[in-house]
Amino acid sequence: MARFTLPRDLYHGKGALEALKTFEGKKAMICVGGGSMKRFGFLDRAKAYLEEAGMEVQLFEGIEPDPSVETVMKGAEAMLAFEPDWIVAMGGGSPIDAAKAMWIKYEYPNITFEDMCKVFGIPKLRKKAQFCAISSTSGTATEVTAFSIITDYNKGIKYPIADFEITPDVAIVDPDLAETMPQKLVAHTGMDAMTHAVEAYVSTANCDFTDPLALHAIKMIQNDLVDSYNGDMAKRDSMHNAQCLAGMAFSNALLGIVHSMAHKTGAAFADLGAHIIHGAANAMYLPKVIAFNAKDETAKVRYGEIADFMGLGGNTLEEKVDLLISYLRKMNDDLNIPHCIKNYGLDSYPAKQGFVPEEIFLERLPEIAANALLDACTGSNPRQPSQEEMEKLLKCCYYDTEVNF
Ligand SMILES: NC(=O)c1ccc[n+]([C@@H]2O[C@H](COP(=O)([O-])OP(=O)(O)OC[C@H]3O[C@@H](n4cnc5c(N)ncnc54)[C@H](O)[C@@H]3O)[C@@H](O)[C@H]2O)c1
Ligand SMILES: [Zn+2]
Repeated sequence: MARFTLPRDLYHGKGALEALKTFEGKKAMICVGGGSMKRFGFLDRAKAYLEEAGMEVQLFEGIEPDPSVETVMKGAEAMLAFEPDWIVAMGGGSPIDAAKAMWIKYEYPNITFEDMCKVFGIPKLRKKAQFCAISSTSGTATEVTAFSIITDYNKGIKYPIADFEITPDVAIVDPDLAETMPQKLVAHTGMDAMTHAVEAYVSTANCDFTDPLALHAIKMIQNDLVDSYNGDMAKRDSMHNAQCLAGMAFSNALLGIVHSMAHKTGAAFADLGAHIIHGAANAMYLPKVIAFNAKDETAKVRYGEIADFMGLGGNTLEEKVDLLISYLRKMNDDLNIPHCIKNYGLDSYPAKQGFVPEEIFLERLPEIAANALLDACTGSNPRQPSQEEMEKLLKCCYYDTEVNF
């Protein structure tokens, strides 16, 4: 038996934020990030709509990008004090993910972060509150997914919390919120979405219900992302839907080792002054992982189907896989994303010498590889790498060398 779970309601289209007016409840806590939602007036509008619905509203502001365990605990305390029956999380993946974890701790104050990270081990929620997610970036699709990514900065590791319990009750996919994204965020979140769709399509947990969502998302991202990056607002709006479809696919089909590697490299060099931003990490690693996974016959066929659906041409499966890899690499070029960690600059743009020096990368490589193998996303990858293969793969992602094993 397999399960397919999505939010009960999804409001979409320009102005969908207004759906908040129809919510029923007494108290809503709005969780937001560092200020973009306030700056562009969306926070005030959301608050006013909820008040119009007769609710008392409290704000929890300042959730940082790649939220920490500490922030989660602080937010849960605020919820325990205010006792909301609606949690409304608004912004990028970071504030929404943090609010999901706060929700668990609010409903179960004695639960530890370690308990939360047990895959599909979250006890029943919704005894205290329902959850609405409103995304302002076009990538993570956390508004429809069963995942939340929280960073333990003591360990420098991102942990995925995974359970259908944290799939939001309501998702609001209003493209107005995504139109204010700066160009770099469009690029990174867009390639995150592409990676979600591709990994979901070849995942060992793919099914008839997830395949059409993944393929349609891939096609839309192929058509829309680069133009959205270059300022086409109609395409920007379309990308907001595309990333959500990709999210519906991967929330139910799960992901693969591109994400395992991105989770475990993201904060691994934070002491050197930067993160390898989630979407950029995915964009760099995806072509390498396709080459690695394509050694598995079933995965190779599936990549071929993706290439066909994208209309890339090619006669043999090998040619189709190569064309898919080339196409994705060209997208990285068009989006100003480097091809490898060696060339990943402090500002995330391509640089001759990136911010992660070779010797530090090699020194940390065995541990990063071991952590990546343990990541929750590894289990559904079509080909299971050994420690040695994972280290080799990560080296290819550092040097941009060919994957021939
Ligand atoms: N839960 C999931 O299923 C899932 C999936 C993929 C990634 N993630 C996680 O999500 C996080 C990344 O989320 P993200 O990529 O959405 O970015 P983010 O939430 O970290 O936001 C990045 C920056 O963009 C700003 N921003 C957000 N929306 C904006 C807008 N519309 N206009 C202007 N500025 C805006 C924010 O203020 C922030 O400074 C990572 O921690 C990643 O691991 C979660
Ligand atoms: Zn992702």
